[in-house]
Amino acid sequence: MNDCSPLESVRSSISLHQAPGPDGFPLVGNYFQVRLKQLHIDLENWADQYGPIYRISLGPSDIAVISDKQAILRVLQQRPQTFRRDHRLEAIATELQLNGVFVAEGNDWKRQRRIVIAALTRAKLSKFFPHLKTIVERLMLRWERAAANSQPINIGNDLIRFTVDVTMQIAFGVESNTLEASGPVIQQHLDRVFPKVHQRANLPFAYWRYFKLPSDRKLDHSLGEIRLKANQIIETTRIRLNEYPERRKAPGNFLEAFLVELEKERTLFSDAEIFANIGTLLLAGEDTTANTIAWAIYHFSKYPHYLTKARDEIDSVLVNHRVIQSVEQSKQLPFLDAFRDESMRLKPVAPLMVMEAKDDVDIQGISIPSGTPLILLTRYLATRQENFGEPHEFLPRRWLKSAAEEPLNHDSRAFLPFGGGPRFCPGQKLALLQIRSVLTMLCRNFNFETVDVKGSVEECLAFTMFPQNLFVRLSHRKQTNA
Ligand code: HEM
Repeated sequence: MNDCSPLESVRSSISLHQAPGPDGFPLVGNYFQVRLKQLHIDLENWADQYGPIYRISLGPSDIAVISDKQAILRVLQQRPQTFRRDHRLEAIATELQLNGVFVAEGNDWKRQRRIVIAALTRAKLSKFFPHLKTIVERLMLRWERAAANSQPINIGNDLIRFTVDVTMQIAFGVESNTLEASGPVIQQHLDRVFPKVHQRANLPFAYWRYFKLPSDRKLDHSLGEIRLKANQIIETTRIRLNEYPERRKAPGNFLEAFLVELEKERTLFSDAEIFANIGTLLLAGEDTTANTIAWAIYHFSKYPHYLTKARDEIDSVLVNHRVIQSVEQSKQLPFLDAFRDESMRLKPVAPLMVMEAKDDVDIQGISIPSGTPLILLTRYLATRQENFGEPHEFLPRRWLKSAAEEPLNHDSRAFLPFGGGPRFCPGQKLALLQIRSVLTMLCRNFNFETVDVKGSVEECLAFTMFPQNLFVRLSHRKQTNA
């Protein structure tokens, strides 16, 4: 048995089945006691009641829910040897032909991850920056039109178009321009995937393997459309590689690198594997970044004095420009970065992560059999007094090295919005660059307020956690020095 406990003396005292946790019902366990769209909140509330490691079930088998810092860090670190992502997620992704780097394990994961990392290096991001700037300017034009007609907009939808355009450009070298498209766009099909994966991953019974509901048929249709798009992209990339063979030595993007790698390994081109990774990158980069920006906008409207402070900083850095001009310039915004981190601490798009024990392990004196799913409550960790003082207050200053203020407890190991260990998010630098670029453009050029169109803003989990009902009214901001 692998020991994952910080305390040798409490090793293997009880089985997971005997661990504290809410009583459930036969076969379905606690399934009807949780709200899938607020699963993270229900699990956090139970953590208050049952402690740092407790047992639930959403079907016939036990699940360990963990909010202990050492245990979470160990699980993340000890991948891929002792822990992995939940195998049910891999099974669901495989059925949808989306079993790319996010769910891959073993050598497949190593090979795919190497290519993803190489496609998102600092140097690649600098080269990509002019494209990013163009896409930010397109978003600005879209918002200028929205400001002109002063109707509230669902800002999350625009942000997803933005992140799709960015990912298509950096990962596949494709100009998709969904921001200026008026008809159906790929983003509408991508939107269907995450909520359905989240639902399927948490259902006690895999009904869709026996019959399909209208929502399953819509998902199949959307996957067909995504596949069509992916095949066009693959074809274009293969033609480009044949026309410019020198690109094989220095692939310009993720997809080129992937195709070259497959050729090098003398593997038959596996369209399935390539499609899975195109879909994975689009999904991994899309919702996460867009929703992180949406939460920051929500926090700006909730705390206008921080908006004023961020604006002063942005105005002084951008001087005569309306958008960020370089990667270097984007790094001169310490207050904006602090604001963003505070926003991600309280509203991370991944408030929990689901892993699985590959061996029998001991976690904090509870023995957990191999194959047990482990839900890691990472947001809960970032809102504990021992890790972050005044944990429920929105205080950007906690991220700044300002000697004038009284120090608060601050343990950055408990801040895991991008995960941790060997499977840490490889898109972090790209995401941070996008967040800075969009927030500076927004604060510099627009005034904005949230509008109650369909009810108040709520946390909604659909694989990623997004602000449901976030509608924003934009208006032009007069600048003196632009
Ligand atoms: C604010 C934006 C983002 C957030 C909060 C975020 C968060 C995460 C988290 C929590 C994980 C799991 C890490 C773990 O298991 O330890 C992850 C994995 C991943 N992310 Fe991101 N992500 C973001 C943006 C992106 C972008 C822009 C891309 C690429 C275009 C990307 C690509 C990936 C990939 C490929 C993985 C799987 C890594 C692996 O399993 O080895 N992410 N991300």
